[in-house]
Amino acid sequence: MTRIMFVCTGNICRSPMAHGVFVDRVRKRGLEHRFEVESSGTTAYHYGESMDERAASELKVHGIRFRNRAKGFHRADAADYDLILAMDRSNYASLMRMTDTEHQNRIRMFRSFDPEGSEDAEVPDPWYGGREGFTKIYEMISRTVDVLIERYAEAGADY
Ligand code: 4NP
Repeated sequence: MTRIMFVCTGNICRSPMAHGVFVDRVRKRGLEHRFEVESSGTTAYHYGESMDERAASELKVHGIRFRNRAKGFHRADAADYDLILAMDRSNYASLMRMTDTEHQNRIRMFRSFDPEGSEDAEVPDPWYGGREGFTKIYEMISRTVDVLIERYAEAGADY
């Protein structure tokens, strides 16, 4: 069992998209029992809100219906997840500040798993942009989620 927490700023755009795509792929592959996934934000501004309309509509284009209520990342969460994946560098820095030293090695940049990404590549904040920004981040999220599932589907994969 691998436990993964996706983290962005508001938990209404990027991390719920990653969460929803992940759940959908895992279900289609019958791998539900291998993973426990959650998402959260580094800020509480949007606490309790559903996913941004633009994010939800991008997921629908790909046949994914996913509902989420925004929540914040809490210090205690670090103990409960094997991987805590930050969408951008600012999220990464916030997570490092919020997490006890013993668990900081669980924090990684989400796109460090993207074959077209790098150690510090970001899923850019789509909040102030248009709908097309969501199509672009869906592509990054989609291919990165596939790599994560491939890599951690087997019990005992190294973190
Ligand atoms: P997210 O997008 O972090 O992908 O959920 C954002 C949502 C809201 C804000 C920033 C980013 N905001 O500044 O309110």
